[in-house]
Amino acid sequence: MTQTDFDHWAHQRQQHIEQVLAAQLPKAGSQPVRLHDAMRYAVLGGGKRVRPLLTYAAGAINGAAPAVLDRAAAAVELIHAYSLVHDDLPCMDDDVLRRGKPTVHVEFDEATAMLVGDGLQALAFEQLSTPLEIAPATQLAMLHTLAQAAGSHGMVGGRAIDLAAVGQALSLPELEQMHIRKTGALIRAAVTLGRLAGAAPSDDENIRLDHFAKCIGLAFQVVDDVLDAESSSATLGKTAGKDAAHAKPTYVSLLGLKQARELAAELQADAIGSLAAFGERALHLRQLAQFIVSRSF
Ligand code: IPE
Ligand code: IPE
Ligand code: MG
Ligand code: MG
Ligand code: MG
Repeated sequence: MTQTDFDHWAHQRQQHIEQVLAAQLPKAGSQPVRLHDAMRYAVLGGGKRVRPLLTYAAGAINGAAPAVLDRAAAAVELIHAYSLVHDDLPCMDDDVLRRGKPTVHVEFDEATAMLVGDGLQALAFEQLSTPLEIAPATQLAMLHTLAQAAGSHGMVGGRAIDLAAVGQALSLPELEQMHIRKTGALIRAAVTLGRLAGAAPSDDENIRLDHFAKCIGLAFQVVDDVLDAESSSATLGKTAGKDAAHAKPTYVSLLGLKQARELAAELQADAIGSLAAFGERALHLRQLAQFIVSRSF
């Protein structure tokens, strides 16, 4: 597969998930109007949609049904979008720019931003728990996966560690734990949901896919740290340089840019290595691993 084929697939999937999300979200202008408009503002018209792409690519490995993948991909993106809205609040990272637009609390207000996050999280589970053409036990496993990844042992827990770590010098294992939770957990779940949606893989395949997901989940945040230090707000669509400004421990502050980039490349190689047995079926996952590490935004 060429880069052009991958770009075409990714673009088509991004457009598709946009439509799925737009249909799942409360209608524009429906009561309570301000909240519903803000929920749509937070989710639609931006973002790389990396997590849905991972769910679709993992689902393709074992022939998952498109309708099930749509629900799973949308649910993980809704949780992600909620996490961004809350991450940007003044009591968290205090950011004014997200996905090239004013953050939700700037465009609307803080109380609305809080409720947007709450509403999006509930919507994710509402959508994923609506009956699907899949064994109920599998659907339950998908819900469990997403809940665990989003919760205090996953994304929310990682962000608690992140807040407590401001101004501190974390050790490398501590930093790794923070990143694995705050960003890795949801990315890992995105792959797991795609995997669960398809025919059950062998134990060995499960282990390999999960190793892939863990590696790229960590790599994703290492690259996020690098881009925060190296890129511009215009390119990122969010304020650059804020980790250093807020005294956040990151892979860049601990290892420097060069070593952080090297680590991301090692994680990418490790991730791709674990896909060898899948051959052609894992083409999109391989390409996504490359995108996650070589992206510029
Ligand atoms: C940003 O995630 C927050 C992190 C978890 C690092 P993304 O870089 O995936 O943000 P969008 O969805 O593309 O805006
Ligand atoms: C994001 O970490 C973790 C989340 C789950 C939101 P960051 O705080 O580094 O994300 P950005 O850089 O604001 O997107
Ligand atoms: Mg943060
Ligand atoms: Mg932030
Ligand atoms: Mg960041």
